[in-house]
Amino acid sequence: MISSLSRSLLPWCGFVVRSLVWAVVLVAIWGSAGQSVFTGLFFVLLFVVSAALSLPMRPLLWAIWVSRRSGISVSQALAYVCLRREWDRMLWRSSVGAVREDERQAGLVESVVLRGYRQDGETVQRPDEDRDVLVDFVRLVLVVATGWARWSDFVRYSDVPRIVRASVTKHGVDFTVSPAAKGQTAADLGSSEAIARVESSARLVTGCGGLVLRASTSRTSASVVWSFVWADPLAVAVPVPPVDLERSVDPTAPVPIGLHESGGLYGLQVYGKMTLLVGGTGSGKGSVIWSLLLGLAPAIRAGVVRVHGIDLKGGVEFTTGVDLFHQVAYTYAEAKDLLAGLEDALEQRLAHMVESGSRKHVPSADHPLELLVVDEAASLTYLAPDTATSKKVDAHLKRILSTGRAAGFSVLAAMQDPRKESLSTRDLFSNQIALRLRTEDDARLALGAWAVDAGAQAHMIPETQQGTGYGIDSETSEIVRFRAFWCSDDAVRGVAAEVTLSFMEGADDEF
Ligand SMILES: Nc1ncnc2c1ncn2[C@@H]1O[C@H](COP(=O)(O)OP(=O)(O)OP(=O)(O)O)[C@@H](O)[C@H]1O
Ligand SMILES: [Mg+2]
Repeated sequence: MISSLSRSLLPWCGFVVRSLVWAVVLVAIWGSAGQSVFTGLFFVLLFVVSAALSLPMRPLLWAIWVSRRSGISVSQALAYVCLRREWDRMLWRSSVGAVREDERQAGLVESVVLRGYRQDGETVQRPDEDRDVLVDFVRLVLVVATGWARWSDFVRYSDVPRIVRASVTKHGVDFTVSPAAKGQTAADLGSSEAIARVESSARLVTGCGGLVLRASTSRTSASVVWSFVWADPLAVAVPVPPVDLERSVDPTAPVPIGLHESGGLYGLQVYGKMTLLVGGTGSGKGSVIWSLLLGLAPAIRAGVVRVHGIDLKGGVEFTTGVDLFHQVAYTYAEAKDLLAGLEDALEQRLAHMVESGSRKHVPSADHPLELLVVDEAASLTYLAPDTATSKKVDAHLKRILSTGRAAGFSVLAAMQDPRKESLSTRDLFSNQIALRLRTEDDARLALGAWAVDAGAQAHMIPETQQGTGYGIDSETSEIVRFRAFWCSDDAVRGVAAEVTLSFMEGADDEF
């Protein structure tokens, strides 16, 4: 930020020298014009207008306006203004589908598209420039005498990715960008290589050494969102907000489980979705599970959501908030019975829906949303006493995953290893979430190669940023970086105790 300030102060030197020269010239004219007050006032006015139009003043005025409107600091607003003003040049420097017109004429660039990048490394012959003396003179006056333009303003660029929309947030700026070069796609602009190139030139342009660029693409969208972040809103853990059990929660809507990287809330769609949560040990899978259950607590209390838990670590994970669960299985035998029972309940509900002619289930106290939460789902495979039992358990899970959606059955399964051998039903999940993973291969397995190329670099999440991850919606293919709320044992216990208490009060009321 400091160097961004010093960078924006530099043009003032030229401005001051120019002002002094003009002051001397104008005073001389004023003296020879009989020292009229009106002429003097006219010159002062001329200076004020010229200063307002001059280069150093323009970005500053723009930055002050952005800073006041968006509530960010002036230095951050200056960095934003730098990005806007230097956009074409910055992208040309990054070689991301941008070409300078003189390079094109010189035949330096035959194709701007090589997976979205300009080909580098060819030698150039500068073109014979067909220059117009008058145009050059006007440019000279504008740049040297008045300071109203820069030489770089006269350079023409083509094939520069276009900004479709820009929004300034507390933490940075989001640009929705669409490709302009022939053959370039939004995925090219969201690839890790493009991001690395643009990020380093954005750092140079803005002078913000700590600036981070992230991309969000979706397979269906023709544009990509580039988020230039001055300060990562996910760097600091956010405790789960107090739960108000009286509040009515719609279980069919996304449940806020943490912060979105833009600083807003991140909601996880549970209803109608089967979610696979993959993350290395200690990556914070527990915080995703508890954030979700605490978010649903009012609906659990109202009986509109029923949670069924499988924790084959002997209850290490779920005992803290066991009262939020309708039933929990801590051993393999219990897990098998729980899944069999859930499958029966699913069949009954499907039969009921056929009878009543309903095609879509609506959660209610009579027919609640049944949420199955499995921690360390791979243990359903490797703890099986024999292959026959393992196959039976798999079959129950498969049935729930493949037919549960319309009947109001959802699943959240957490595991460490994204390989298919760990969970044969992996492909039946419609939502993918990856927290920190060990290797890029793991990230590709968990999220899909395209998602990692599009910026979901789960293997790059720092160990100190537990609960941070990437979520992908399989329907929209949208990738979102988020951090789950940090749920202390006391917070979980407190809410679970309150839910039990209100269940008991409810039971008393019935008598
Ligand atoms: N969202 C979060 N913010 C801050 N700290 C967190 C967050 N989530 C988890 N942690 C911390 O990280 C540690 C590990 O978290 P957690 O037990 O949830 O990981 P896990 O992925 O479930 O690990 P395992 O696979 O070993 O069960 C905990 O000590 C917790 O305090
Ligand atoms: Mg855990």
